[in-house]
Amino acid sequence: MASQLTSSQRAWTAVKRGSPAKALALQDVPIPSKLVEGEVLVKVQAAALNPVGYKLMGTLPNFIARRPITVEHDLAGVIVDANGSEFSIGDEIIGFIPVQLQLKTRQGAITEYTRLPASNVTIRPPNITPTDACGIPLAGETAMQSLFDVGKLEPGQTVFINGGSSSVGAFAIQIAKARGCKVVASASGKNEDFVKSLGVDDFLDYTKAPIHKQLEDNPPSPKYHLIVDAVGLVNPSLYTHSEAYLAPGGVFVSTGPLPSFSWKGISDIVSTINEVFLRPSWLGGTKRTWKLVNVVHKKEDLYSLRDLLADGKLKPVVDSIFSFEDTLKAYDRIKTQRAKGKVVIRVDPKAD
Ligand SMILES: NC(=O)c1ccc[n+]([C@@H]2O[C@H](COP(=O)([O-])OP(=O)(O)OC[C@H]3O[C@@H](n4cnc5c(N)ncnc54)[C@H](OP(=O)(O)O)[C@@H]3O)[C@@H](O)[C@H]2O)c1
Repeated sequence: MASQLTSSQRAWTAVKRGSPAKALALQDVPIPSKLVEGEVLVKVQAAALNPVGYKLMGTLPNFIARRPITVEHDLAGVIVDANGSEFSIGDEIIGFIPVQLQLKTRQGAITEYTRLPASNVTIRPPNITPTDACGIPLAGETAMQSLFDVGKLEPGQTVFINGGSSSVGAFAIQIAKARGCKVVASASGKNEDFVKSLGVDDFLDYTKAPIHKQLEDNPPSPKYHLIVDAVGLVNPSLYTHSEAYLAPGGVFVSTGPLPSFSWKGISDIVSTINEVFLRPSWLGGTKRTWKLVNVVHKKEDLYSLRDLLADGKLKPVVDSIFSFEDTLKAYDRIKTQRAKGKVVIRVDPKAD
């Protein structure tokens, strides 16, 4: 089937290190003509951005990124070469190219065709459009792994999700509710209705007062079993004050503090390192466990997300949709850190 395609396609590739406006070029690149065993070739309908995309673009040295490299990780598309896998030509799928895989194959999501392992692909439920579905894998798997693999959350327990309107946070709320957990989440006041529409039991507006102060002044009873920071806070206060609102044995899961290059950002990250790694609880440090989630693709997580979507228990959250040509504008949007869910690229102009 691949041989019936034209040989070249357009892809957004990072050609050098820097901000998207500096680093990205829309290039003609070959359509992958050789698949290794277990891979499928996909015609991309829609792709979604994640903060890791622009963060790596701006930081990874060339000897690791081996630029030019096609960017981004989340996609929806159609199988055009099933390569002996369990899929068939024409299957409509959701796919995930994690960072480690992208660095190995130099394949990405904002491109007309891409190859990826069949194990990183699942059938898209027909009730969800490609533009709605494409942003599920990376943030959805991060949410699942934060809650259950790292956070060990059990049905009936309560989780506090810091950043309920972020992509990871919005998925974590819905997944935790679907597993029978109680969920409290924060966002700015303008996103209160949105976060409540996801099913939270309680809501905190972080613009009224720092969240750790609100929780110290009005501690939950019982205390939370888990806190998931779905923002990537650099300031450690929510963790260092957590004995007041996180149960003994409870875990604080961070999606990864990445400091800005400012004195405040650097001083905050030094405090976090000091609290988390250098001052254990027996030396007077915070008597709660701090853990970092680092998403790794798990086929069973992608399949669980697909089932939740099909059952209507997980609703995609899309902030905005941009055309393929307007990918740089999409990066401007995600970089505001104000997106309410996924920032999506409609790669195939005909995709819903
Ligand atoms: N470690 C991993 O494996 C992994 C995987 C995925 C993502 N991440 C990281 O997780 C973070 C979230 O990713 P994402 O894709 O979900 O981001 P995103 O969708 O771009 O997040 C934007 C949202 O964050 C909210 N927000 C910003 N500052 C906030 C604050 N102080 N308190 C509460 N909400 C706040 C904004 O709401 P308001 O407008 O209301 O402020 C906005 O809705 C990023 O740092 C990302 O790099 C890590």
